[in-house]
Amino acid sequence: MPHRISHQKKKHQHKQIAIFASGAGSNAKKIIEYFEGNDQTNVGLVVCNKPGAGVLQAAEDAHIPVLLIEKERFFCGNGYADELKNAGIDFIVLAGFLWKIPQPLINIYRNKIINIHPALLPKYGGKGMYGAKVHEAVIAAGEKESGITIHYVDEHYDNGDIIFQATCPVSADDTPDTLAQKIHKLEHENFARVVEECVRRD
Ligand code: GRF
Repeated sequence: MPHRISHQKKKHQHKQIAIFASGAGSNAKKIIEYFEGNDQTNVGLVVCNKPGAGVLQAAEDAHIPVLLIEKERFFCGNGYADELKNAGIDFIVLAGFLWKIPQPLINIYRNKIINIHPALLPKYGGKGMYGAKVHEAVIAAGEKESGITIHYVDEHYDNGDIIFQATCPVSADDTPDTLAQKIHKLEHENFARVVEECVRRD
């Protein structure tokens, strides 16, 4: 547990992640499981803007504290930076979090906020491109391939440096639902591992 090791050790070895999620939380759950028992990195907080979201159950099951956030304070204050600091958060992982990250948080966590997008950026990204809308657009455009993009977050939607991409075929009979399943599989196979690599490199 972080409070049982010296400050020096925590600073250099043990990194704390906050997962921001507002939906079902299947990626959040995978990440939580992946880091359980990890001696260098752990998930210290789940941040959510939707009471009742599936991710809250995943946090509760894993005994991870939850911070429920409100829109006005998130955007007009400093993005809950004090709460994140007090929880000792070093990295932020966005796993199905739809609000734009406010500037104060971007400044404090520059190159320490990682997002996953369910398509091959720079295509099919930007404001309004989320969930089924992404897969509908990919299929409507007749793409033969889609995939996932894991990237750093900057002040623009889906714009920061790309860290990792993986692809899957789009077949003629794919629907937004079947494509979403393929994409989720890729996400679950790769996201936690890529996050770990980024945290280790830091
Ligand atoms: C994922 O498909 C991710 O790419 C997107 O939001 C979705 C979250 O799914 N950013 P889940 O809540 O982790 O199941």
